[in-house]
Amino acid sequence: MKITRRTFIKRTLASAAAFIGLNAFGYSYARYMEPNMLAIRRHEIEHGKIPRHFHNFKVLQFSDTHVGFHYELDDLERLVEKINAEKADLILFTGDLVDEPHTYSFPPRLIQILKRLEANQGKYWIYGNHDHGGYGTEKIRDVMEQSGFQLLQNEHTLIENGSASFTLAGVDDIMLGQPDLEQTLENVPTDSFTLLMVHEPDVALEYQHYPVDVQLSGHSHGGQVQVPFFGYLVTPPFAEHFVEGHYPLVNGFNLYVSRGIGTTRLPYRFMCRPEFSVFRLKSTQSTK
Ligand SMILES: [Fe+2]
Repeated sequence: MKITRRTFIKRTLASAAAFIGLNAFGYSYARYMEPNMLAIRRHEIEHGKIPRHFHNFKVLQFSDTHVGFHYELDDLERLVEKINAEKADLILFTGDLVDEPHTYSFPPRLIQILKRLEANQGKYWIYGNHDHGGYGTEKIRDVMEQSGFQLLQNEHTLIENGSASFTLAGVDDIMLGQPDLEQTLENVPTDSFTLLMVHEPDVALEYQHYPVDVQLSGHSHGGQVQVPFFGYLVTPPFAEHFVEGHYPLVNGFNLYVSRGIGTTRLPYRFMCRPEFSVFRLKSTQSTK
């Protein structure tokens, strides 16, 4: 694999940082403290296609809980309380519920906790690579279904408020599913504000050319470990271009990437706090 200069510098710095900085405190901080320092990232999405009935509508996205890998049900319970305190209108989960479906025991309490999440316009989810991986496809689908979440797997639905609506769409996981954006968007009216959930952010490079206004993704974990002045070190495939935050792309297409909640592979977070995102929809129609 070709190593770019940027990658080389990053890896060298990472090694140096690990060598110099990973003393007892640094280790304890990255291992036990920062993974529990939940942040809430807030965005406003202003768009002419958002109906005025949806002005100030609150969409909450959480992602990548990776339950079972240094993220226990007590942690999930605390997360659910914080999410519910936001009183969101719509709750979206963008994949990777448990870390390893083939080894996880799936206690009934998992469903009891997820069931407690409340949003007056519903709860929706999409598959991530860890959900399909390890024969998790059916198991995760059952858990989410019993928890009151509706799956969007290459399909869309209308979120309605009186006579107004917008489109919520979701594609299957890019890496281990069978994503089909054409099918997902079939029969979506061209004037409908369209919000798309996709686990892996980098497909935005292709999806930005489709009639989608906003793409919400996770998967990157923000790299989990970041280095001062240089940012993230390593991100997974399909999260190499877009790692965290807001990316305005072509034709008014906006991508938002969440750093997610949990960890995978290594139980560390450094300068990369776990987060969920809250989006306030702003209709420019409301001021007319
Ligand atoms: Fe993940």
